[in-house]
Amino acid sequence: MGEIDTKINFLGIEIDNPIIPASGTYGFGYEFAELYDINMLGTFSFKGTTAEPRFGNPTPRIAECPSGMINCIGLQNPGIEKVISEELPKLAKVFHKPVMANISGFSLEEYVSNCEKIDKVDMVGWIELNVSCPNVHGGGLAFGTDPDNVKNVVKAVKKVIHKPLIVKLSPNVTDIVAIAKAAEEGGADGISLINSLMGLRIDLKTGEPILGIKTGGLSGPAVFPVALRCV
Ligand SMILES: Cc1cc2nc3c(=O)[nH]c(=O)nc-3n(C[C@H](O)[C@H](O)[C@H](O)COP(=O)(O)O)c2cc1C
Repeated sequence: MGEIDTKINFLGIEIDNPIIPASGTYGFGYEFAELYDINMLGTFSFKGTTAEPRFGNPTPRIAECPSGMINCIGLQNPGIEKVISEELPKLAKVFHKPVMANISGFSLEEYVSNCEKIDKVDMVGWIELNVSCPNVHGGGLAFGTDPDNVKNVVKAVKKVIHKPLIVKLSPNVTDIVAIAKAAEEGGADGISLINSLMGLRIDLKTGEPILGIKTGGLSGPAVFPVALRCV
């Protein structure tokens, strides 16, 4: 039996295989390199990055569910400057492939400025625009639920970058097709489906929500059929 060719062309960049851990599940990657050779991945999408450092939401931030989990991390990250000057150099020592940059923002200007900065980093192959974070107020999801906002932010970002732009969409909308078409009209090269589904868990002993900010995003095998339907 010959070797199976798992290579794919991913928006103009050849990658060894289509295994790509999702943003927020893989940090900035280098911690996993202590456990195994992370170069066996096609690539991965690094943790959602904002202009300012963010501590994230109060704990608890994770609650288990049957067939999944619900999280409200709240875009914890050291901010774009430190991601570029500290996190990515650490990653470059152990990962020798292009990485996907997951970028968030709280205004159109912030999305544009973050993308412009990250676009200049050599090891970044693709930019994934997160317009769908359910766990921060004012940012993320506020953009991703309105087709006009999505089109405008994509258009503005495309003007300042050279790398392929993937727009990560939320399933927490009535009509994801309208949002996807708006991303396409804005000039997106691809879409990424799906971000987590808004959920809530209650501690039966206290009668109170488990998570620090009450609600969170449901992910895992439980949401896979929803994701496939969106795709
Ligand atoms: C702990 C955690 C943190 C996440 N953080 C981000 C993030 O920073 N940016 C983002 O675009 N998606 C984030 N996500 C969403 C995932 O990338 C993915 O879209 C979601 O988990 C659904 O896919 P899955 O069911 O295969 O996990 C996060 C998910 C989890 C579980």
